[in-house]
Amino acid sequence: MTEAISFPQDRSCPYHPPTAYEPLRESGPLSHVTFYDGRKVWAVTGHAEARALLSDQRLSSDRQNPAFPIPIERFAAIRRLKAPLIGVDDPEHNTQRRMLIPSFSVKRIGAMRPQIQRIVDDLLDRMLAQGPPTELVSAFALPVPSMVICALLGVPYADHEFFEERSRRILRARTPDEVETARIDLEDYLGELIARKEKDRGDGLLDDLIADQLRAGSLEREELVRMAMILLVAGHETTANMISLGTFALLEHPDQLAQLRAEESLMPAAVEELLRFLSIAEGMLRVAKEDIEIGGRTIRADDGVVFSTSLINRDGTAYPAPDELDLDRSARHHVAFGFGIHQCLGQNLARAEMEIALRSLFARIPGLRLAVPAAEIPFKPGDTLQGMIELPLAW
Ligand code: HEM
Repeated sequence: MTEAISFPQDRSCPYHPPTAYEPLRESGPLSHVTFYDGRKVWAVTGHAEARALLSDQRLSSDRQNPAFPIPIERFAAIRRLKAPLIGVDDPEHNTQRRMLIPSFSVKRIGAMRPQIQRIVDDLLDRMLAQGPPTELVSAFALPVPSMVICALLGVPYADHEFFEERSRRILRARTPDEVETARIDLEDYLGELIARKEKDRGDGLLDDLIADQLRAGSLEREELVRMAMILLVAGHETTANMISLGTFALLEHPDQLAQLRAEESLMPAAVEELLRFLSIAEGMLRVAKEDIEIGGRTIRADDGVVFSTSLINRDGTAYPAPDELDLDRSARHHVAFGFGIHQCLGQNLARAEMEIALRSLFARIPGLRLAVPAAEIPFKPGDTLQGMIELPLAW
């Protein structure tokens, strides 16, 4: 009975979809799952159907719509909020996104590569100087994207403990109140930072947005603060999880790792395959604005829809032997970054960070290994971005 499957659920292995979702693979490409409040929503697990639906503007991302599905109780408060980019539909979405696209283009991110490499090298120097064992999340996987997004936005990295802790609470708190408090803390912090920057211009995307959009009246102050918050949170938590979980998955697949070490040119394809295989951002959400016919089913207006990224990326009709990590395959067209108008704005940045971080980590530490048995290493529960809580390593 697929109707009985609750969503989200914990993974039993940090890099495989939850075994509890197996019946959804059988009943796909569209079936039903139940959220914490008993609401039944459509679960999309088919690759072709997911790409069709994610580019269908009859599905809305507007979290203020009373019919918008909320999968986890602690996120109930987000309904009150207007979230720029991720939570708005076109044409408003397009206006906001156009303000940011140039800063995340392939060319602009390409120009940041030497800076990313320096950040990675410095952190690895420090790790090697301290010697084994190390805890990779705090020593490397989190600081790399945190430092990079701070440099890009113009946020002082000295404040990283403050914003990393608030981001962690927004994503993993137990109650709606805790999420709300962390969000307000972060908004207050960014509001003050933006006010300081208005008086004393610095060097970063936030400074550009103040000069080009806020002053011109094309962006409200509150919108800018929320945009800054989304960019800061999305910009470090996601990639940190990909670096930690990617390292773990490669260490658990030594043949694949050996091949990657032998053929450096494999790295871009390896990053795509890791994105597909790990699918850390599980469960994109939408609400139907109109009836939609797809795959012989009818999604009715006001129905909730959740996209199971991990199952979509392991659809056997799109990827042969989908449960195998195969760095040689062409994993293009995965939906780890979403698809359609909301497809990840930071994907070029995330790719550059992953490539540089993983290449440098494995090149500089040839004997890298888990410091404790894999089964003892804690990973994140299914109701948040997937990744390692800690990753103890030795060499
Ligand atoms: C490997 C790391 C990352 C993964 C797996 C990831 C995943 C995603 C996914 C799945 C979406 C689509 C959400 C939806 O359609 O509802 C998204 C959107 C977004 N991501 Fe990422 N992301 C990553 C890194 C980043 C980085 C580094 C940034 C930098 C700021 C970023 C900023 C955003 C923004 C602003 C959106 C909303 C875009 C829009 O609505 O137009 N992400 N991301």
